[in-house]
Amino acid sequence: MSQSIYTSAEFVVVANRLPVDLDRSSDGTQRWTASPGGLVSALEPFLRSRKGAWVGWPGVPDVDVEEFEDDGLVLHPVSLTSDEVQDYYEGFSNASLWPLYHDVVERPVFDRGWWESYVRVNRRFAEASAEVAGEGATVWVQDYQLQLVPSMLRELRPDLRIGFFLHIPFPPVELFMQLPWRTEIVRGLIGADLVGFHRPGGAQNFLWLARTLVGLEPSRGAVGVRSRPGMMQVGDRTVRVGAFPISIDAAGLDSLSKTKEVVERAAQVREDLGNPKTVLLGVDRLDYTKGIDLRLQAFHELLQEGRVKPEDVTFVQLATPSRERVEHYQRMRGEIEQMVGRINGEFARVGHPVVHYLHQSVNRAELAAFYSAADVMVVTPLRDGMNLVCKEYVACRHDLGGALLLSEFAGAAAELSSAFLVNPHDLDGVKNALQAAITLDPAEGRRRMRALRRQVLTHDVDRWARSFLEALGAETAT
Ligand code: ADP
Ligand code: F6P
Repeated sequence: MSQSIYTSAEFVVVANRLPVDLDRSSDGTQRWTASPGGLVSALEPFLRSRKGAWVGWPGVPDVDVEEFEDDGLVLHPVSLTSDEVQDYYEGFSNASLWPLYHDVVERPVFDRGWWESYVRVNRRFAEASAEVAGEGATVWVQDYQLQLVPSMLRELRPDLRIGFFLHIPFPPVELFMQLPWRTEIVRGLIGADLVGFHRPGGAQNFLWLARTLVGLEPSRGAVGVRSRPGMMQVGDRTVRVGAFPISIDAAGLDSLSKTKEVVERAAQVREDLGNPKTVLLGVDRLDYTKGIDLRLQAFHELLQEGRVKPEDVTFVQLATPSRERVEHYQRMRGEIEQMVGRINGEFARVGHPVVHYLHQSVNRAELAAFYSAADVMVVTPLRDGMNLVCKEYVACRHDLGGALLLSEFAGAAAELSSAFLVNPHDLDGVKNALQAAITLDPAEGRRRMRALRRQVLTHDVDRWARSFLEALGAETAT
């Protein structure tokens, strides 16, 4: 275990990844790059403003990096071996828990060796957190990769205030009950003083499981959003269970999207696309839960039926590479790339693809430019804990332009009722909504976008974090 060189932190975030990944090139040079995913997008701006410590993996196996300070934030790396990356991260986290928690969209694989690795790595994270946290500190554990950490950490450091937040959906109890280690996971989580989910349904499911699997006696009232948490007595502690929908740094993106650089770049993007009448946009990690294939299929059928014209409408799909060694992801990537090829094969003209597919990450300003350039943002996950992309799009549309098509199965749908809400399994419904969004009357579009922005700008990530920390008792209400 590496020693913490800094004075003990009063506020510690523990997540599988650090906010930056170590990028090693073949010539031996190293640099830190932004980590992928919604957890880091949401938490990083918040934590940087409070100068805490962040415990996490640097994103590559077999490296031993010393603790370091980055712009006031102490980063405490936890090393993983190649075997642990395979078994704990790619295996148990992303081939067992991820599909299980996302409605079994793909079949979860249960492997005892992966579970053992998950337990070992969770213990290492707990030990690292115990070392970084000062006396009586608040430790905020994040996400499904670290569900055993709260109890392990409590054993090591009973003086700490421990919160846990799950960034992905918490599944229906019937699905959770498939997990061979279901009781261990529930016992792991109740080591926290507050267990947070995006939606009240997740909190309610967890309370039911705590009763059924651990024999606790949770309160019976309905859990509210940022209110009325469930409660249960665990020994001499009261554990609270609540719903805290996460969000984005909305004001930051709003300002970024108004800069000259982004406004000009957005115009350039449209020009580079050949100034089509309508630009459709998808932005996702390349993940099978995101429904990228479904939206492409809907677009393809609209083209085939002549309901949209290839010379009028262009689809841009940005897809961040993700979990590339996990089989489910490899298969899906092949299928999506085949569909892109097929649609372009049938409908593109020389120099004018109808689908622009970029298997790349872009920086924040470039992303804001794409959002500003897009007439319809297409967000069609089969299941998503929240989905931050749709909120980012809304935050960038200060011009009240654009339309949002959003799956009902994203947590964000409960907040963004002025979007075109779709059931992504209903292909005809998606096609009709896409067509409606493409042909939207501008006044109606502005009305919808105004309502969406009101919600997103007043419910930002700062509000999410404060509401969680207040419920944890780590912060007083303002
Ligand atoms: P998840 O956490 O499952 O990846 P979210 O929608 O909650 O999904 O968050 C994804 C985050 O990753 C967002 O902040 C989004 O801007 C960012 N992102 C997704 N795709 C790209 C991309 N191609 N380039 C840059 N950022 C991306
Ligand atoms: O937001 C969900 C999440 O799984 C985070 O926990 C994670 O950091 C992010 O998506 C990206 O996934 P990964 O860390 O596996 O690349």
